[in-house]
Amino acid sequence: MTDLHTHILPCIDDGSIGPSTSGLMLARLAEQGVDTVAFTPHFYPDGMPAETFLRRRERSFASIRDRIPPGLSVCCGAEVAISRSLPGSSLLPQLCIGATGLLLLELPENGPFAGWMLETAAALRDRQGVTPVLAHPERCAFLRRRFALARAFAEAGCLFQVNAASLFNRRRRFVHRLLKAGYVQFLGSDCHNLNSRPPMYQEAYAAITKRAGDVLLDCIARV
Ligand SMILES: [Fe+2]
Repeated sequence: MTDLHTHILPCIDDGSIGPSTSGLMLARLAEQGVDTVAFTPHFYPDGMPAETFLRRRERSFASIRDRIPPGLSVCCGAEVAISRSLPGSSLLPQLCIGATGLLLLELPENGPFAGWMLETAAALRDRQGVTPVLAHPERCAFLRRRFALARAFAEAGCLFQVNAASLFNRRRRFVHRLLKAGYVQFLGSDCHNLNSRPPMYQEAYAAITKRAGDVLLDCIARV
């Protein structure tokens, strides 16, 4: 089982506050049978150069290397806020999750839809050979309001990652609709800490497979 979306790397975004918290978060996921974890700290391309982000991510990763439970595979990626500048970035391969070519892409939660977002997703795929994975599409208001837009992103080659907690909260109906349409390939805990946004995974995995069968893909990336 792969957790494709976590904020376990310490002191780099609004996730883990330190290496010991990160170690406990990893242990919780391992206890639930997760065998692969992607580290996906927030990256805002319009707010920071990618080089700076990647240097910070490397430092953060180094600080928890010795806290990774035995048998757990981990890889680095990022939760990248969508930006018009993305398809032109020479550092896209390093922003992707491990060696998968999957780029976890965050759409605005409450902002309006704009055509360039679809064009950007398509350009990432067609011009850069990157496969965009929409991070928690159920949190994006314009996708919830217009299912045709979810279909358009899927048809543009995007894969979808839903959050574990969304199987059990007010977003679940939309998640069920995505599952029914066959748009969901990945599950993420999107964990930020040990309490308010914890490393919860297994229960949601069971809920998805019960409802939709064996639809989730394994992330085969290695460090
Ligand atoms: Fe996230």
